[in-house]
Amino acid sequence: MVGPKQMIPRSNLLRCLIAALLLGSAASADAAGSGQLRSRGKVILEKNCGGCHAIGTVGASPLAQAPPMRDVYVRFLPRELQAELREGMVSKHRAMPQIDFSDEDVDAILAYLYALAVRK
Ligand code: HEC
Repeated sequence: MVGPKQMIPRSNLLRCLIAALLLGSAASADAAGSGQLRSRGKVILEKNCGGCHAIGTVGASPLAQAPPMRDVYVRFLPRELQAELREGMVSKHRAMPQIDFSDEDVDAILAYLYALAVRK
């Protein structure tokens, strides 16, 4: 019987592992192209932010002082926004309920906002 280990030489296996690790670090860029992640981001934003911020490509924010999300993304560097979301956006954003998003949630939110900015 020929098992999978015998079919793939060890060195190739190692190369695959390294490639997978390298790909992992580019995961958030990849994620931006993933529709599933995007729609999850949209749901999160709708639930947590949509009461005040407009989160679509068009339309005004329900709360006039809150900038539409599509403008927020353009204004912030992605890294900055990512950090802010992780920290719960404390400093600038006192009106907002403070939420500490998980890394996956942050990725989902960024994927959606990225798509929003690109579509604009
Ligand atoms: C209760 C209303 C409310 C909710 C809910 C809310 N925001 Fe805001 N947000 C505001 C207001 C008002 C401003 C503008 C004034 C300010 O900067 O504090 C704002 C500003 C922002 C800014 C821009 C800050 C800047 O310096 O330009 C970002 C980014 C932002 N909100 C993200 C979010 C995200 C992400 C969520 C959901 C997780 C969210 N907000 C939920 C009211 C809200």
